[in-house]
Amino acid sequence: MSGPILIFDSGVGGLSVVAAIRTRLPEVALCYACDNAMLPYGTKPDEWLVQRILDVCQAAVAVSHASALVVACNTASTLALEALRNHLEIPVIGTVPAIKPAVAASRSGHLALLATSATVHRPYTRRLIDDFAGDCRVMRLAADPLVEQAERQLAGEPLDPDVISACLAPLWEETALDTVVLGCTHFPLLIPALAAAAPRPITWVDSGDAIARRVVQVVAPLPCSTRPGGGNPGVEAHGASWATAPGGTLAPVLSRYGFAAPGRLMVATTAFES
Ligand code: DGL
Repeated sequence: MSGPILIFDSGVGGLSVVAAIRTRLPEVALCYACDNAMLPYGTKPDEWLVQRILDVCQAAVAVSHASALVVACNTASTLALEALRNHLEIPVIGTVPAIKPAVAASRSGHLALLATSATVHRPYTRRLIDDFAGDCRVMRLAADPLVEQAERQLAGEPLDPDVISACLAPLWEETALDTVVLGCTHFPLLIPALAAAAPRPITWVDSGDAIARRVVQVVAPLPCSTRPGGGNPGVEAHGASWATAPGGTLAPVLSRYGFAAPGRLMVATTAFES
């Protein structure tokens, strides 16, 4: 089987990961899928979310003929990676908060994890912190409104500085805190605005480059059409995109990242109870 690498997120956050992958693999064939009809994921119930992520990723893999799937979403990865690996026949690369590199970057040992409510409270995240930051003080801060801010920014709408300040305010109570893990792929898109709202210099750490390095390892043994320089005219999904709600400003946003206008990803919608 040959085909592009499929990048998946609830919305446009995965584009921060696309940028990181392109830096390391500029010629690799990529395509993009998002479940923006159900954005945000970070406030949805787990049981519903697992099935939804499975349904959307299975549909996206089928339509794209992808060789590998990058789940460019911490909220999805910290919950559904195992289920995805059990149900898909292609390699699945996940995104988890960059706790380990943040520990290496911090001088004070006082860090924070900024993520969606779902990611902040997951057992997976707690284990990650226990395993890699046992000697550090780690604040876990949910910042769900930043997801919408990132979506707005990419759509060319103004950011709301009050929303950003309110999300970050608890961080500044820790005077020794010097490093913040961006545990949601939407958040790296906001780094200039986050830095502008910070009262002192902060090291912002995201997972983009770690994912890109993992993609390099996974791509190496795949058929040549996926690899840089291995162009195959039969692989039509290269540069294609799909969304569960393809209208609005999504097409110009995806176009700026080199993707064609999104096709509609057909996934049955099941109601959830919050
Ligand atoms: N970009 C996603 C993440 O990395 C989730 C945003 C959301 O839909 O809540 O967690």
